[in-house]
Amino acid sequence: MTNSLRDPKVAATLKRLHARATADWLVFLRALPAVLWGWLRGRSAMESAIPYLKNAYIPINAEQGQVLYALARAAQAKTIVEFGTSFGISAIYLAAAARDCGGRFTGTELEPNKVKTARENLATAGLDAVATVLAGDARETLKEIAGPIDFVLLDGWKEMCLPILKQLEPQLRPGAVVLCDDIKAFAKTLAPYLAYVREDGGPYVSQLLPLGDGLEFSVYLGASEVRS
Ligand SMILES: C[S@@+](CC[C@H](N)C(=O)[O-])C[C@H]1O[C@@H](n2cnc3c(N)ncnc32)[C@H](O)[C@@H]1O
Repeated sequence: MTNSLRDPKVAATLKRLHARATADWLVFLRALPAVLWGWLRGRSAMESAIPYLKNAYIPINAEQGQVLYALARAAQAKTIVEFGTSFGISAIYLAAAARDCGGRFTGTELEPNKVKTARENLATAGLDAVATVLAGDARETLKEIAGPIDFVLLDGWKEMCLPILKQLEPQLRPGAVVLCDDIKAFAKTLAPYLAYVREDGGPYVSQLLPLGDGLEFSVYLGASEVRS
């Protein structure tokens, strides 16, 4: 059985990108004065840091990538959607799974320089035939997505994760997997998201996976499962 993560082009591209992403600490260092200044004026760290993050990867780690790939394979995901593609690291794991499941990956990214590079990186990995990176705000670009959606990764700015999930929900197939990253680092911002996916009697079953900064793993049960 095929495992595209073992494809030499995919493996080499991921190795190169994970190595490049280690330089993110320099970006965060440059953002520090603005973050501290913003903090004194009551702004969130993310709000103050955003102008500096145009060149930051802020990626999932390799262990998370392996788990994303495995979960997408287990779900036999044919339609995989990502909110927040950055330079394409998570996109490569997910496009590899899409190819091996006979499906397609669609990512969406706000920053034009990241869109261009993510597309190039997917092409270098040999995955461009099964991958699309939509340019622009996910609230608009994801309106184009036709369901049923089998797998979603929510990894854009955290206050948008719940609105994007609700926007995609009518297209989710029962049994669809939804993952949301950085649960521990953004506990306050993501509290409404967690309350929604963990709601007793709600349309999801959900559990935190202790990977990276915390990856919330939710399975959509379908609208008919919601208790009245
Ligand atoms: C944490 S990074 C994503 C990392 C990526 N998933 C990876 O693992 O390689 C978050 C990205 O979401 C993008 N983003 C934030 N808000 C967005 C929006 N409304 N629409 C599209 N992209 C957005 C940011 O520009 C940033 O590149």
